Amino acid sequence: MNTMLHVSASPRHMDSHSRKAAVAAIAELQEHRPAWQVIERDLALEPLPHPDAAFVQASLMPDALRNAAQRAVLRQSEQLIAELASADAIVLSTPMHNFTLPSVLKAWVDHVVRPRRTFRLDARGKTGLLHDRPVRVVLACGGSLVVAPGGQVDFAIPYLRYVFAVIGLRDFKAIALETAIDVKEFVRRQRSHPTGWISIIALTRAHAFGRRTVHSGVLIHADRMGPRYAAHTSARAKAWRSVHSDDDGIAT
Ligand SMILES: Cc1cc2nc3c(=O)[nH]c(=O)nc-3n(C[C@H](O)[C@H](O)[C@H](O)COP(=O)(O)O)c2cc1C
Repeated sequence: MNTMLHVSASPRHMDSHSRKAAVAAIAELQEHRPAWQVIERDLALEPLPHPDAAFVQASLMPDALRNAAQRAVLRQSEQLIAELASADAIVLSTPMHNFTLPSVLKAWVDHVVRPRRTFRLDARGKTGLLHDRPVRVVLACGGSLVVAPGGQVDFAIPYLRYVFAVIGLRDFKAIALETAIDVKEFVRRQRSHPTGWISIIALTRAHAFGRRTVHSGVLIHADRMGPRYAAHTSARAKAWRSVHSDDDGIAT
């Protein structure tokens, strides 16, 4: 059976914009893949321990040298790697916390990115040991990533792209759900960079849960926009959907 692993990191549970968007997107992905099973890994509900001295020692030594206690220390990490390695696609939903990942998600990364287990290190650098498969990321942030003034540096998506590539997962797409504060800039971005992986339909469904409105993969506070702008972006969203109707890149 095919499985889709949903790793979620927001502490806001079902109030979370990233989780709602991911859940809506997964529902849509499942419409075309009814037999696929979704595995939920909620890192906020069940936080993982951060690496301690015993973990560091056990994870850095070759498996043949580990004793029973050191193997036990890595048991949870092994389970998480097995869950990741057996998934046919991964959807990851996360807030941006201080320009990067929440620490619960970083702890998950530390459990699944391990030398000689998920990557190999030699003179040429690091080589991933997992077979490639789609990784789709929804990042929610309160501010804007590019809109000036206030545009901020995104250390989350580039980091996730890099760290998944290190373990062999290079089929990576991400979308940022952000508060757009400048209408002209928002429209310019939609023209120049319409590359979201989630269809408009899925995001519009996500809107049904919350106070924000959604167009072309960017969340905008509805109360900041007048009706003229809403009509304008709605027309743009339809155009966008017809161009990007929707190859999510995940095998059916
Ligand atoms: C501790 C903390 C740090 C945050 N840091 C940022 C940040 O650096 N940039 C940003 O745009 N939003 C930041 N936010 C706002 C959240 O990213 C935003 O509320 C987002 O919608 C949360 O995602 P969620 O709805 O999936 O929980 C921060 C929120 C918290 C609680």
